Amino acid sequence: MIADETRLAIHGGTPAKQYPDPPMYPGGMAIDEEEEAAVLEVLRSKRLFRYYGPTPGPSKAEELEQAFAAAKGVGHALGVTSGTAALVCALHAIGVGPGDEVIIPAYTWIATATAVLAVGAVPIMAEVDESLLLDPTDFEAKISPYTKAVIAVHMRGAPCRMDAVIEAARRHGLKVVEDCAQANGATYQGREVGSWGDVGAYSLQFNKIVTSGEGGMVTTDSLELYQRAALFHDVNTSRHNLPEDKLLWGINFRMPELLAAVALVQMRKLGGLLDAMRARKRMLKAGMADVLAEKGLTFRTLHDEAGDAAIATILFMQTPQQAQAVSEALRAENIGAGVLYRPEARDYHIYAHWTPVMQQRAWSAGGNPWRWAQRPIEYRQDMCPRTLDLLGRAVHLNVSPLLSNEDVEETIEGVNRVLKALA
Ligand SMILES: Cc1ncc(COP(=O)(O)O)c(C=O)c1O
Repeated sequence: MIADETRLAIHGGTPAKQYPDPPMYPGGMAIDEEEEAAVLEVLRSKRLFRYYGPTPGPSKAEELEQAFAAAKGVGHALGVTSGTAALVCALHAIGVGPGDEVIIPAYTWIATATAVLAVGAVPIMAEVDESLLLDPTDFEAKISPYTKAVIAVHMRGAPCRMDAVIEAARRHGLKVVEDCAQANGATYQGREVGSWGDVGAYSLQFNKIVTSGEGGMVTTDSLELYQRAALFHDVNTSRHNLPEDKLLWGINFRMPELLAAVALVQMRKLGGLLDAMRARKRMLKAGMADVLAEKGLTFRTLHDEAGDAAIATILFMQTPQQAQAVSEALRAENIGAGVLYRPEARDYHIYAHWTPVMQQRAWSAGGNPWRWAQRPIEYRQDMCPRTLDLLGRAVHLNVSPLLSNEDVEETIEGVNRVLKALA
C-alpha cells in the first residue's frame, strides 16, 4: 500500500519531523505564573467556596460566569464541575426526563449519551456527515413522536450547521442543546457556539482548549433556563432568590473557587491560543492541499472555516486500511497521527464502542431509562454505517499552538511524503 522504494521513516529513512509533537493540551501547556498568582490569591483570601467565606465581594465563580457570558454573547453563564454536569443541568433546564428521546450524533464523547441517561431519557444516535458533525438530514429522519431535544456537538473544534439544526428542530418543536466541550471559542457565521441553541454546555477538563483541570459552564440567553440550571446545580436552592413555590430540588455541581480562578485566567488566553492554532492549521492545509488533490483525497468538510477552533486537521483516506497504513507511517515520521475509528480499539468517542449504553445496562431495574421509553429502543453496532465509514477512513492530526514554523513545515513534508508514496 505504501511503496517500499521511498525513503519513509517507516522503511528506515530519516523522519521528516525532528521532534515528536508537543503535548496537545493548548490551555494546559500555557499555564504559567498568571494561573499560579490567581490560585494563590484565592488561597490567601481563604475563600474557597463561592457563596461564603471570610472575605466579602463577588466570588471567582461569579466573575468567571460574567466573563464567560460576555465572551459567548449570551445573557447568562453558570459555572459547574464538569462538561457532563453542564449537559445534565442543560437537559434538566429544558425539561428532558423519563419517556423522552434525545437525538445525539453517533460521534461524540460518551458523556453526551450518559448525560441524557442521567436525566432518565434515552439517546438516539444520528449519523455525522463529512464534517464529522451531526448530519441535519439524518437528525430529522431520527425524530420520533417522543423526541424532546437534540444535542448538536461541535466535535474537534468545528462548528455544526446550527442554522440547519435549529430550523429542523423548530419545525418539530424540539429544544436544542449545544455540546461545546471541544470547541471553546469556535463560531458559526460569526456567532459563538453555545449561543445558538436553547442552552450550551462547555467543559474545562484538562484535554480541552482552555482548562482548569475539571470544570464546566452552562450558557443560555433565557433567564428561566438559567434559573432552572442554577437550581439543579446547587442543592441549597434557597440561595437563588426565587419564590418558594418556584423552587425545585437540586444536587451539587457547584464550581470551586480555585477552579474558577484558573479558568478566568485561561479564558483570557483563549483568543491567543485560537489565533496560534488557526495560523498553523492554515499553513498545514495549504501545504498539503496539492498532494491531497493529486491523490483524490479530501480534508474534513468545515461549515465555517473562519470559525473553526482549529485544534485538528483531519484527512479522509479511501479505505480504513489506507488510513491505518498512513497514520502508522506518519507516526514513524514523528507526526502524532491516528485513525478515528478502529473496531478493535475501544474508544468512547464512537457509539459502536459505548458497550454499557449499547447493551442498555441500567444501574437499577426501576432506574432503567429504556424501560420508561415510550417505544422499544434498539441499538445495533452497524446502525450508523456512514459515521463508522467516515471515522474509519479519517486520519487525525493535532494542531498544537506550540508547533514551531519548522515543525509545521516538517509536518507538511512528512504528510506529503507519505501520501505520495501511497500506491
Ligand atoms: C464532546 C464532549 N462532550 C462532553 C464532554 C464531557 O466533559 P467533562 O469531561 O468535563 O465531563 C467531553 C469531554 O470530556 C466532550 O469531549
